[in-house]
Amino acid sequence: MIRPFHMRWFLLVTAALGLACAESPTAAPEPPTALTLDERVDSLVALMTLDEKIGQMTQAERSRGSIELDIRTYTLGSLLSGGGSAPADNSPGGWADMYDRYQQAALQTRLRIPLIYGIDAVHGHNNVRGAVIMPHNIGLGCTNDAALVEEVGRVVAREVAGTGIDWTFAPCIAVPRDERWGRTYEGFGETPDLTWTMAGAAVRGLQGTDVRGGERIVACAKHFLGDGGTTGGDDQGNTQLDELTMRGLHLPGYLAAVQAGVGTVMASYSSWNGQKMHGSRYWLTDVLKVELGFKGFVVSDWQGVDQLPGGYEAAVETAINAGIDMVMVPINIELFISSLRRLVNANRVPMSRIDDAVRRILRVKFQMGLFERTFTDRALTLAVGSAAHRAVARQAVRKSIVLLKNDSSFLPLSKSLTRIHVAGKNADDLGNQCGGWTITWQGQSGAITTGTTILQGIRDAVSANTSVTYSRDGSGAAGADVAIVVLGETPYAEMLGDRSDLNLTSEDLTTFTRVRATGVPTVLVLVSGRPMIVTDIAYASNAFLAAWLPGTEGAGVADVLFGDYHPTGILSHSWPRAMNQVPVNVGDPYYDPLFPVGFGLHYE
Ligand code: GLC
Repeated sequence: MIRPFHMRWFLLVTAALGLACAESPTAAPEPPTALTLDERVDSLVALMTLDEKIGQMTQAERSRGSIELDIRTYTLGSLLSGGGSAPADNSPGGWADMYDRYQQAALQTRLRIPLIYGIDAVHGHNNVRGAVIMPHNIGLGCTNDAALVEEVGRVVAREVAGTGIDWTFAPCIAVPRDERWGRTYEGFGETPDLTWTMAGAAVRGLQGTDVRGGERIVACAKHFLGDGGTTGGDDQGNTQLDELTMRGLHLPGYLAAVQAGVGTVMASYSSWNGQKMHGSRYWLTDVLKVELGFKGFVVSDWQGVDQLPGGYEAAVETAINAGIDMVMVPINIELFISSLRRLVNANRVPMSRIDDAVRRILRVKFQMGLFERTFTDRALTLAVGSAAHRAVARQAVRKSIVLLKNDSSFLPLSKSLTRIHVAGKNADDLGNQCGGWTITWQGQSGAITTGTTILQGIRDAVSANTSVTYSRDGSGAAGADVAIVVLGETPYAEMLGDRSDLNLTSEDLTTFTRVRATGVPTVLVLVSGRPMIVTDIAYASNAFLAAWLPGTEGAGVADVLFGDYHPTGILSHSWPRAMNQVPVNVGDPYYDPLFPVGFGLHYE
């Protein structure tokens, strides 16, 4: 029985939620225009119990096993797919079916608030087999082309939305200052000004100017703040900087992201001068929300709250009071929910903080039209992995490549040479050219998804009379007109990519030496997530290209090799001569890298 007073609220809220449409996956009437966004939010919050509010602040990993029951039991506000967490049917349609099933469960709760579903679509919809994989951000940074980065964002948003998913934990706007860091490739580059430019472009591409548009998804600027500035490049380490330097290096990207209307920000695992970012009220609230005016919500990183000191309940208290609005728990949600409930009942977390967090979350959900358009737009599903999207990715590959050496204009190569010998472990390996965060969290070598390897691109580019031979170890090069040696890194992500040594592997060096011993003119192509120590072999090569982690469209590398695209890329990182120079960054008092930031050759 609803009493008269509640009836008014209920009618207001029903109008606000446009509930009538939610049952049907297709009906999507326009939202009621009678209420402002804040009125819609406030009228819904007014109806919510404490447990429903805490539910909205809880993000669970989809693979928990009982997830549809959890959604209903705990009125969960959000789910995520961690790296590699995919439905058994890892196809665009399989994802869309899964997403719609979870939203159906959410609409069976009392207030029927839709879920927001997050995923690391950090270089394409990279968990999904068959999706287009874009160059990682380090390559996009080297394009120095904000319009292209925005277009890449639009394509990624379209592919993500085509599977129903509505939120990506991207762009990573770290400013990596020490290439020993395993996440160097996730940032655009080592300078704040490039990061400022690309952060805004990436957010606009993903969200558009009106995130309600069906092909748009919510972005997440991460990881706030200073993730790329840790001492020694230690992942989740300590960023030891005075505040002025911290602001100058690491804050500009967030200024641009907030100005572009970014819906969410993810807190960093790292610390600032010993204080964990997840517990810093100064940075998360005073700076991000008050000083920068960020109106979206802050999400923790995966079990990031657990890393705070004092035991779990104290950690939850510190994190929520610091300004974390949604907690990526993401497994033991029962403990999080009961802990936060106890903290509120003991007034250790004020209800005003809970209400602020829930308002921020609901604002984003209303702004993105989740209440009106709750289910997958299946017309978009067909576009996942399309030729048109691959064409954008190929252009991004072309523009990301940096030509670092070209003796006597050795490049571009003729397409009608008699024989080209291709060598190296990264020449014919889609997984290696995609890098981490691809199909699985860490990525892996091999034919892991649909795409074109660099070798395939070379084969497709040359004339019918040209023979292209290949060996991983460099054998068989003798007698060829030219050798193209493709070396570098195998996939890694996060802390598993931290390195104390950026020299090439002995396998790579042996391959290169074997080829050079034949006297065949050599083009070196480096496929890596960061600059590596290649001084000697670059010197011994006739030409040298940095291809970074190009993703599925390896033909873009061949386009540059054969002159179908003349290289325009410029370095977004300083290139060290040797390990004793690392870290080396533009602006250092004594700056003498092998190649400086901004360097890139062009064809004559
Ligand atoms: C990871 C990463 C973060 C990612 C999150 C969800 O630990 O630090 O970048 O978005 O967990 O996968």
